[in-house]
Amino acid sequence: MYITSLKADGFRNLHAVQMSPDRHCNLIIGDNAQGKTNLLDAIWLMTGCKSFHGAKERHYLGFDADHFRCEMEFYDDRRTRHIAYTTTREPRRRTITINGVDTAKTGGLFEVFHCVAFSPADVEIVNGAPERRRAFMDLCACQLRPSSMRHVNRAALLLAQRNASLQNAAKGKLQRSDVTLWDAPLAQTGARIACMRAAYVRSIAPLCEQLYSVMTGGSERLTLSYRSAVYGTQPLPEQPTDELTAQYLACLASHLDDDLHAGYTTKGVQRDDLLLTIDNNPVQIYGSQGQRKSTALVLRLAQAHLYNEKMKRSPVVLLDDVMGELDERRQRLIYDMVADMQVFITLCHPSSLRIGQRGLTVKMVNGKLSQP
Ligand SMILES: Nc1ncnc2c1ncn2[C@@H]1O[C@H](COP(=O)(O)OP(=O)(O)O)[C@@H](O)[C@H]1O
Ligand SMILES: [Mg+2]
Repeated sequence: MYITSLKADGFRNLHAVQMSPDRHCNLIIGDNAQGKTNLLDAIWLMTGCKSFHGAKERHYLGFDADHFRCEMEFYDDRRTRHIAYTTTREPRRRTITINGVDTAKTGGLFEVFHCVAFSPADVEIVNGAPERRRAFMDLCACQLRPSSMRHVNRAALLLAQRNASLQNAAKGKLQRSDVTLWDAPLAQTGARIACMRAAYVRSIAPLCEQLYSVMTGGSERLTLSYRSAVYGTQPLPEQPTDELTAQYLACLASHLDDDLHAGYTTKGVQRDDLLLTIDNNPVQIYGSQGQRKSTALVLRLAQAHLYNEKMKRSPVVLLDDVMGELDERRQRLIYDMVADMQVFITLCHPSSLRIGQRGLTVKMVNGKLSQP
């Protein structure tokens, strides 16, 4: 898919921004704090997902604006679609339309528009808590099947309900049976999520291994494996079986005493992790800063590539502040991998791009776009 028209006004510091992006390469240059990342944020907003670098939606409204409006037209390889996203300050109200039709929830956007965003914050997938890696697996897997988002959200809701019951049971307000009421639906959804994550990691692992090898000139070996808190590293099928659900249920039952003691559910998909190793050593423990960054880069490249392959259409690629600090080999690898995709690259200095590129170059100054 690719964006043919983009408008943003009142969104952070962006002011009357209008852009007709190039089908392939769009370079956004500008000094620091001018609004380059904000422009990518405005595109990302259309995916219906939380910010790719951890920003909060309540901070999107421009300081002096009474509303923001972002609009986009894109071609999804079958037809042109239009999204308009408006938020007003008083009263605080969000309106989203897809082809002129109101969609109440951001989930509607997730069904239609997909980006892969590269950001310096990606290194947190490697360095951060397992939660970051679970979020990575879930978002990537759901991009390939947006309806799976329903299960991910449901699992979180069921878990919160079971945890609330555990706390109430600890206070003597509820019985054990009030807690175990949640076990069957939680086991069913949890087993499904474990299978989804396992399948995703299985498809992405060889690709990551190969890309990492190219990136390092074959000197190091990266491996990925999914570790389920319930199933360990046992191979899982694409879809959950009754046996796996029963195994999940048994796991919840055998840890009930621990859970009552802890006041939360101690076993389940909320404890899963994605294991990343270089030459058999966990990257988050033994990796150098460079190895961590390269690993994060490879994960994103593989995400984009797999989406392209499985969905038979390309995602829109956002490269925020990543190209500038990479050597020529890495820049070239990224560039080759996203060659057929529409890409938006932010950079302070165009000269830090060591590879020739054609397409559109615009300059961001104080929230406004101009010709360089
Ligand atoms: N809600 C907002 N309203 C107005 N300006 C904002 C808002 N949020 C951030 N900014 C401004 O945006 C600028 C940073 O933009 P950013 O896109 O991160 O810059 P960069 O070009 O370095 O990527 C800062 O000057 C900041 O004050
Ligand atoms: Mg920036």
